[in-house]
Parts: sequence; C-alpha cells; structure tokens
Amino acid sequence: MENVLTFNNYDSKYWDEKEIGEITTLDDMIRKLYDVFAEDTVNVEYVKAVLASYKSNPKDWKKYAKFDQHRYTRNLIDGGNGKFNLIALCWGEGHGSSIHDHRLMSIHEQQRNSITIMTCEYYAHESDAHCFVKILDGCLKETMYNWPEKEGEPMVERSSVTYEKDGVTYINDSMGLHRMENPSHSDTCVSLHLYIPAFEMCKTFDQRSGRQNKVKVTFWSKYGQRTKFSEQGCESNGSQLACYHQAENN
Ligand SMILES: [Fe+2]
Repeated sequence: MENVLTFNNYDSKYWDEKEIGEITTLDDMIRKLYDVFAEDTVNVEYVKAVLASYKSNPKDWKKYAKFDQHRYTRNLIDGGNGKFNLIALCWGEGHGSSIHDHRLMSIHEQQRNSITIMTCEYYAHESDAHCFVKILDGCLKETMYNWPEKEGEPMVERSSVTYEKDGVTYINDSMGLHRMENPSHSDTCVSLHLYIPAFEMCKTFDQRSGRQNKVKVTFWSKYGQRTKFSEQGCESNGSQLACYHQAENN
C-alpha cells in the first residue's frame, strides 16, 4: 500500500525545464504539480522551476489569504491527491514561526506515503519529507539552524536569506532546521508551501536550549473556508507554528 516516490536530480528525463510548458495561473501550476507527482520519480530542481514559472497574481490566491492579527495562518489550497499539500501561509507584520523540522510524523502512520527523494549532492542525503516555498506577496526571511547536538545548548544559526515575491526555496531535514518570518513591520506576506508528503506533525525547537516539542499542525482555513473551531486545535495565544497544540511524548 506504500506509495514510493523518488526525487531524482540526475536523470534529465525528470528535469528538463523546457517541458514545463506555459503556467500563467495558480490553477495551471497546480495542474502541473499533479502531473509531476503522478510520477514515482520527482526532481527537486524541476519542482522549483515549476513554482518559479508561475508569476504571482493576487487574483488567483486572494480567496486563500486569510490573516490573523496575532499569528500567521496556514490555509489549505489543495490536498494533492494525498501526495502533497499546497498551503498558503499568511504572515502579518513581524509574524514568525518557531524553529522547526519537516519530519514525516503522520498521526496515521499506516496511511503515510513513504517518499524517497534522490537529490543533487548539495542536499547530501535522502530525506522523507520535503518543503518547497514560493513567495506570493511581500518578503519572507528564512534562518537556517544546525540540528541541536544536545539539549540545553543554544541552537547554532547557520545562515539567513530573505526571499522576495516569486522567490522559491526548498528544505528537507538533511539540510537542517529553519525558522521563517516576515521581516517587515509595515507589510504583510503571503507564501505558498508545498509539503511532500502532507505532514500533520512536526517538531519545534527552543532557540536557547534546543529543547524539542512535538506539535500538530492544523489549518486556519481549507479551500477558502474557515475551519471549524473544533478542527483547529489552536491555542488562543498560539503565536508559534500558526495553529497547534502540544502532543504527548514530547
Ligand atoms: Fe518550514
């Protein structure tokens, strides 16, 4: 029942960007992603090129762009036939996430996609969970951290990059951990996140101590409609990772 998807950056069959075709709307891009993920083998650079091919137009995504005064929101755009999730994250001025991983920790382990991704040497290792980010509006700053070597020590910051509208980036756990934030105190930001597979749980890390917390990630809205309160699992003052609650066995 396992659905094995391989990311391959070596075979040109999977990364000829000339094959992408015309992508003028968000729907075009989503259709292309369905084509890409219909295959068992996927190329990281090709997916990045697909995301870059779409030039952001607010008309396409404004129905998903729902902001909260106190924290950033996660808004489901497309469930990707169970292979991926496409999500709009809406960041108010100065909003940021905690430091987090993208590890596959589905609540429904028996239903999970087992995804093997072969990447170029830069990415170093295979990983089972992947995240692509494209900026739809505003700017988003990504700060990378090393995995903590032991709890009790501050996290080591490695680098940071600010991405502007239509910029695209990619991370998997072999590359480290990251924190995302809207660096602007006057403008909002909307970013598009492509998660493979669609994950339900991740870990957050305390910057000062490296202490880990397992959290469930939930949606502020799905397909443009606000999710019911009972589905949200939100903490009323949750400023980290949008909408989450602490799970057991941290
Ligand atoms: Fe992330």
